Amino acid sequence: MAPFIPEAKLLEIKDAASIAEVIGQYVSLKPRGRYLVGLCPFHAEKTPSFTVNPERNIFHCFGCGAGGSVFSFLMQHQRMTFPEAVAELAQRYGIPLQWKKDPAQAQVHRRRQALYDVTEQAALFFEKNLRHRQRGEPARTYLARRGLPEETAAAYRLGYAPDDWRLLGRALSDQGADLEAAQQVGLIAPRSTGGHYDRFRGRLIFPIFDLQGRVIAFGGRVIGAGEPKYLNSPENQLYSKGRHLYGLYQAREAVRQRNIVILVEGYMDLLALRARGIEPVAASLGTALTREQVRLLKGYTSRVVLVFDADAAGMKAMQHSLPHFAGERLPVRVLTLPRGEDPDSYAAKHGVEIFRSPWEQATPLFTFILDQASAGGGEGFEAKIAAFDSLKPYFQGDLDPVERTLWLQLAAKRLGLPESVLEASLQTHKHPVADIPTPIREESLNLEKKFIRLLLTYPEVLSRIDLEHYLNQFSSPEMHTIGRYIHACYREVGYLDHSLLVTQIEEEHLCRQICSLALCPEEIQLENLDSFLEDCTRGFQKVQLKKQLHQIIEKIHLSYNNDKGGDYLSLYAQRIEIQQRLKKLDKWYQPWGEKEKIDGQGSNI
Ligand code: UTP
Ligand code: MN
Repeated sequence: MAPFIPEAKLLEIKDAASIAEVIGQYVSLKPRGRYLVGLCPFHAEKTPSFTVNPERNIFHCFGCGAGGSVFSFLMQHQRMTFPEAVAELAQRYGIPLQWKKDPAQAQVHRRRQALYDVTEQAALFFEKNLRHRQRGEPARTYLARRGLPEETAAAYRLGYAPDDWRLLGRALSDQGADLEAAQQVGLIAPRSTGGHYDRFRGRLIFPIFDLQGRVIAFGGRVIGAGEPKYLNSPENQLYSKGRHLYGLYQAREAVRQRNIVILVEGYMDLLALRARGIEPVAASLGTALTREQVRLLKGYTSRVVLVFDADAAGMKAMQHSLPHFAGERLPVRVLTLPRGEDPDSYAAKHGVEIFRSPWEQATPLFTFILDQASAGGGEGFEAKIAAFDSLKPYFQGDLDPVERTLWLQLAAKRLGLPESVLEASLQTHKHPVADIPTPIREESLNLEKKFIRLLLTYPEVLSRIDLEHYLNQFSSPEMHTIGRYIHACYREVGYLDHSLLVTQIEEEHLCRQICSLALCPEEIQLENLDSFLEDCTRGFQKVQLKKQLHQIIEKIHLSYNNDKGGDYLSLYAQRIEIQQRLKKLDKWYQPWGEKEKIDGQGSNI
């Protein structure tokens, strides 16, 4: 059972453990100011950029970006799991791990824990059924038929829900489990006649884990006929479809070591590859990838290979994911299988050779989409126009300039048109409210970082400000999430403990960000707090106005091109008004100089 460690216990261990001493065992550290520095153990370097802050109990490497708490150091450096790292430190510093539940623990936390407990109890129940001599028979036969050995089933803790309405409910109630929690995570549902019924019946069960190995949801495949083919847990407090990836927990080490992840659609696809020795695999579970999932992967690897079904749904899912990968600068390729095959059926017929060096066998996602767009349309010019039209949205996102140029070159070559023509076509068809231009986005990001540093340094300002109001103005989803985590952590414990904060956050890239911001040398002085807050408020107002100004300028371009004089005049008036407001906020503001920066192309209006 994945152990749960109460926050109070974590705090106790962390307070007893000296981060300097623990890390000092593996890295030679020298004092520099209030910090300790040394050569980073996570990347090769000659001058020390690995920094430990003993006051805040966190570390960060300014060279490679590694960072976290004393627990995450042991996890990353000694390849321990989170519970192992906790146990190791508890033992070293003589803290008993048998604890009584702290009655003062926040109610929210107890509720969450109740949900973890009940999903774990259910997972154990399903596993036991699968092993049960008679009861588990149909499921074991099914697994054998699909070629999944016991080891794979065990590694992913597969289980079985027999075709019965009351088994799980009864088992849980016999164990004194929290039935309300079971209902909340969608394992049982109330009956109109009183009592409960089991939601998963006659199904092979796939538990879904978070990155700490806790069971947070289930998928269940019918054995035999029945609808739906797969039944999944509803989203709940622990699980949200777009934030987790099936199998990433089991694959994370392999993904990191081989620096690649093969992303498939289904449970069975993943297990079929894993059963045949292909380890770095995760599954999106048949839905379009979200930005959050892409970020999740980015924390482990810099190469993603998609192996989605070659049907319309798979194609659409891949197309939708391109802006996320491009936006996160995460290289992505597509491995295509013969039509009608999924990784599971393919592996059964042809083996897994193709998955052993998938990167080399795959096509960059943009090229793949371009191929699809230009396939079958012929050489006619309508076909070419249609093909390029369907590609335009990809060029509108936030792209690396080099990547954008390469895409344009590829498209030009494929369609047999000069790049300059395609570029001109992109410019005239720009969406009226296009993405925020890079300089404004960067200004906003810097401000957001500054603001997050304020929260990390003086979390007590949270009681004085309307955080929601500030967060709503953030452009970076990453900083937004960090802001929410800080708030939640502060609310729960009553003060901000940095190392607890990073311990609680699952997304590795966010932990790194937080440690980097918290260790940023530029300190904010307490006596300047009010003026600092004022600066931030003004900064956010300015960024908002600049975003508005940018949109107005875009619209002016459009209305000018479309010759709508009326729109043009009213837009022009709005533009002047915003410029005046900006000017008031910043006495150095230069409307004409700024305009060049804002629309980037030098407006000729
Ligand atoms: P598929 O229909 O491709 O199923 O759905 P599959 O993975 O090949 O499964 P087998 O081989 O028939 O057993 C891909 C994924 O989409 C989700 C599941 O996560 C599935 O693995 N899905 C599919 C559902 O959630 N519900 C469904 O009814 C169908
Ligand atoms: Mn299949």
